[in-house]
Amino acid sequence: MFARQNSCFKCHAIDKRKDGPPYREVAEKYRGRDDAQAALLHHLTSGHKVKFPDGHEESHKILKAPPEDIDNLIGWILSL
Ligand code: HEC
Repeated sequence: MFARQNSCFKCHAIDKRKDGPPYREVAEKYRGRDDAQAALLHHLTSGHKVKFPDGHEESHKILKAPPEDIDNLIGWILSL
C-alpha cells in the first residue's frame, strides 16, 4: 500500500500510538474541519518540525508523490 511504501507505518499505525499519533486519532482531530485537507497537505509536504514522544524534535517526513496520490492518502486518513 502507498503509505507503507513511504514508511509512514514505521511511525504510525491505524489504531495504536507509535512515535506518531494513530491515523484514527488524526481523523478525530480533523473531523468537521473545513481546513482538514489543506492542513494535512501542508503537514505532509512542508517537512515542518514535529515533536516525538521522547521530546526531541525532527522535521516530519516529506511525502514525495504525485498530488493525486497525496490527496488520496489524506482522504483515506480522514475517512478512518
Ligand atoms: C520518523 C517517524 C515518522 C514518519 C516516518 C512519519 N511520521 Fe507522521 N508524524 C510523526 C510524529 C512524531 C508526529 C506527531 C507530530 C506532533 O504531534 O507534533 C506525526 C504526525 C503526523 C500526522 C498528524 C498531523 C497533524 O496535523 O495532526 C499525520 C497525518 C502524519 N504524521 C502522517 C504521516 C504520513 C502519511 C507519513 C508517510 C509519508 C508519515 N506521517 C511518516 C512521525 C513520523
